[in-house]
Amino acid sequence: MDEKVFIGVAWPYANGSLHLGHIAGCYLPADIFARYNRLKGRDVLMVSGSDEHGTPITITAEKEKTTPQTIVDRYHKEHTENMKQLGISFDIFTRTTTTNHEATVQEIFLDLYQKKYISRKSIDALYCPTCIRFLPDRYVEGICPHCHKEGARGDQCDNCGKLLDSFELLNVRCKVCGGTPVKQKTEHLFFALSTFEPKLIEWLKEKKYWKANVLKFTNNWLQNGLHDRAITRDINWGIKVPVFGFENKSIYVWFDAVIGYLSASKEWSKKHKEPSKWQEWWKNPAAKHYYFLAKDNIPFHSIIWPSILMGYDETLNLPYNIPANEYLTLKGEQFSKSRGVGIWVPEILKRFDPDVIRYYLSINMPENKDADWTWNDFVSKNNDELLGTYGNYIHRVVTFTSKNFGSIPKLGTLNGIDKEALQKIEETYIEVGEALEQCSFKKGLRAAMNLAQYGNQYFDRNQPWVLLKTDKERCGTVVHICLRLVQALAVCMAPFLPFSSEKIWKMLGHTHAIKNWDDAIIELREGTKLETPIPLFKKLELKEIVHESDPFSKLDLRVAKILDVQDHPQADKLYIMQVELGPLGKRTIVAGMKPYYPKQEILGKSIVMVINLKPAVIRGVESKGMLLAATDENGVVSLLDPKDSSPGAEVGVEGIAREPVSLLEFEAFKEAPLTVDLKGNVVYNGKPLKIKGTIVVTDRKVKEGAKIS
Ligand code: MF3
Ligand code: ZN
Repeated sequence: MDEKVFIGVAWPYANGSLHLGHIAGCYLPADIFARYNRLKGRDVLMVSGSDEHGTPITITAEKEKTTPQTIVDRYHKEHTENMKQLGISFDIFTRTTTTNHEATVQEIFLDLYQKKYISRKSIDALYCPTCIRFLPDRYVEGICPHCHKEGARGDQCDNCGKLLDSFELLNVRCKVCGGTPVKQKTEHLFFALSTFEPKLIEWLKEKKYWKANVLKFTNNWLQNGLHDRAITRDINWGIKVPVFGFENKSIYVWFDAVIGYLSASKEWSKKHKEPSKWQEWWKNPAAKHYYFLAKDNIPFHSIIWPSILMGYDETLNLPYNIPANEYLTLKGEQFSKSRGVGIWVPEILKRFDPDVIRYYLSINMPENKDADWTWNDFVSKNNDELLGTYGNYIHRVVTFTSKNFGSIPKLGTLNGIDKEALQKIEETYIEVGEALEQCSFKKGLRAAMNLAQYGNQYFDRNQPWVLLKTDKERCGTVVHICLRLVQALAVCMAPFLPFSSEKIWKMLGHTHAIKNWDDAIIELREGTKLETPIPLFKKLELKEIVHESDPFSKLDLRVAKILDVQDHPQADKLYIMQVELGPLGKRTIVAGMKPYYPKQEILGKSIVMVINLKPAVIRGVESKGMLLAATDENGVVSLLDPKDSSPGAEVGVEGIAREPVSLLEFEAFKEAPLTVDLKGNVVYNGKPLKIKGTIVVTDRKVKEGAKIS
């Protein structure tokens, strides 16, 4: 039977876009590992999906005044698409709101309940008298009892990474109303984690090969003694508790999510019309289970999930390895969806090819310590290494061969240097393979890059362009060896840079895809016609990428449609308006348009607004964003006209990348002055504002030089 490898990758919450921290933290390493294992001929099952329950989702929905379903549908779609664009090769990327998942979770829950691993307990919970509700973890905030940082959530402190219980927080507050919650008795169901302690300790004894940080986090937990944990929550968005008396509660999102690894495997089997196939990975003791995740997820995978598995069915496989990464930081700050710090995947995918992103995240992977993303380093690694060393080698060899031979020339007599080159190929292929077996991704990529550098040296040293005139046969031998190096590189790089590797593979005249790791060292067929070479990578200019000097990039301008207009009860000139931003939902804004636009004229209009401006309370009403209007020297006021662009569409200026900050200060907005030009177009620094191809104009005629605010 084929060797089986199961790869579980942490399920991203469907409450916001993915950022590069997610990719570097787990999706990319998991994908590199999966691709390598497939090339080794192993039977890989790689699963994940959107984590769609719990307070992260309901809080986002409340913020946007929409339903949790709307939020998860939006982000599940986006995540699925982004994973595909980045080449993250899941066998299945599903979601936790499927009926299959629900049934699997409830079955396991009930089984553990019947075995008395789950039991009732009456506890004090935090109750907000103002909101008249119990507050689940993420609805409370306070000071972390461990590191004393402000802003810790009821479930976890982002600063020190410790898991928390809401009561432990100091100076605890209700996140919804800011009030102080009180303790009140309520019944919850608890998972008897403490029961599994001896078994876990025994199981962990043989995990000496785990990464130091993973062992450290896990042992820390064990040393403090395992406590039974509440696995129901006072929230109605989630999987129903299959026990009488708990109809108004839901299963805790983490309990639900980790079971996704098993339920997704079953779903995949059903889809492939072999409903029991999942057992080949889960019930076969020889199958190895790898879990990829960022470090704040470690205890859920090294303690809680194994305990659930042990309690439910002893014949199911436990994790074999959990090669968790550290964090990718952005100028020293941790990427975080909840705090709005990050480079968002949908944005960066619009600007760079996936292999360019994959290269920098791989060579700079936070494997054993945090790694910092800087644009400067991104550009230089792209230009010097990916393009300068690797791309350049491939390009010069393939172009030279193509032009002077057209097909793969014959390998003649080998001299010492040639033999060394062939040996170097063999060594590199072994070295990269060994590194990848151990999930040492950076090490593997560096070894492959060394081969590219070696290739450049071999090429220069042998000067095939001179040999071409003096000794064409010798030239052919040199070129043949150069192509062997190209081939080895394409295969060794395939787990890291799958898109360019396939292109290189095709240039070598292959008609099928790269199939085997051993393809790195196979002989080339003399006479094979080469495909026309195409450049693989581009030079990047730092100044075209970051416009830190350009204040316009910080603005998030969008098209909005006015749904409702009301007079502000506290002010003569203000309207309170409801606007729609398409996929971004609806929001309320306050604007001083009353003297200029009668209600019936403004209602239903499409406008342009700044959506990331720090919300301001204007005469008692919170305004989330600012509508833009032009005022000319005669005092004529006009809204901006986005023509028939759809609500939510992005408004930009050609040549300036959009890098909206999460909260824009009004001062920062003023640093990017917008005006109206002679033609009536709205311009920034003389360049028109555009929505896709549409130029933004003013709704009424205003004089040239009118200012926008
Ligand atoms: N959604 C969680 C997070 O983003 C990870 C869940 S991993 C799972 O932190 F295995 F539990 F799904
Ligand atoms: Zn409250």
